[in-house]
Amino acid sequence: MSQLVVRSVPPFRVPGAPGPAAGTGDELLEAAARELLDDVELGRARGMEPRPRQAFVAGRLALRRFAAELLGVPAADLTAAHDCPLCGPGSAHGRPGYTLRGEPVPLLLSLSRSAGWVLMAAVPDPAPGLRLGVDVQDPAGTDFAGFDALVLGPAERAALHGLAGAELLAGRARFWARKEAWLKQSGTGLRTAPDTVEVLEHPGIRDLPPAESGLPAHFAAAVALA
Ligand SMILES: CC(C)(COP(=O)(O)OP(=O)(O)OC[C@H]1O[C@@H](n2cnc3c(N)ncnc32)[C@H](O)[C@@H]1OP(=O)(O)O)[C@@H](O)C(=O)NCCC(=O)NCCS
Repeated sequence: MSQLVVRSVPPFRVPGAPGPAAGTGDELLEAAARELLDDVELGRARGMEPRPRQAFVAGRLALRRFAAELLGVPAADLTAAHDCPLCGPGSAHGRPGYTLRGEPVPLLLSLSRSAGWVLMAAVPDPAPGLRLGVDVQDPAGTDFAGFDALVLGPAERAALHGLAGAELLAGRARFWARKEAWLKQSGTGLRTAPDTVEVLEHPGIRDLPPAESGLPAHFAAAVALA
């Protein structure tokens, strides 16, 4: 039976420093990236502003180390082989994956970032045809007018009816994480309108509680495996 492994990584910090990485922290992160990431990954990172670049690089380093640990191989031996449904395999974006000495590794992977945290999921030696998606959401990110119309279907809007404040944001974040997990599992991402994906009760999606995800308790997280 295919076994799900979930791992979260806190915001990158310089060991011993009180706040998020800055100055020498960025240099440490970028040195690790130069050592471990592939040219295609470094090329995408170079096109980003400093803060998104730091989040991108931290996520790619975490994913590579996670995959290497599960496979029992050195992280530097893996080659990123992400697969975009539009651009095809070998693109700098899309569904994550790696090759080892030219062969795809037997590992399903998915990754999500929110508020500096990285959430990853993997299935080693997956059954043929199985696909995986994972997502994390900070409820604060759902606090904007028009969220419900943009993201939720009628049954989901009805389920949140009457909620306000933190309860409403938590409910929105939960549905949003479930939808994005499913859209990553399917590979279409947000090219599929999120309000068309019904996630209130969906057999392929489940919430990831903090005890399983390792994330702060206020985050919403979900995994889709089907
Ligand atoms: C997938 C998507 C929903 C991610 O949402 P997000 O909230 O921005 O970001 P998250 O942090 O939760 O997830 C990012 C990760 O999703 C994964 N991902 C991206 N596209 C994916 C896809 N089509 N299928 C599965 N996973 C995908 C990657 O691992 C990515 O990490 P990376 O930045 O290191 O490459 C969104 O990026 C999207 O809709 N992408 C597809 C759009 C598309 O197909 N564009 C055409 C490009 S040519």
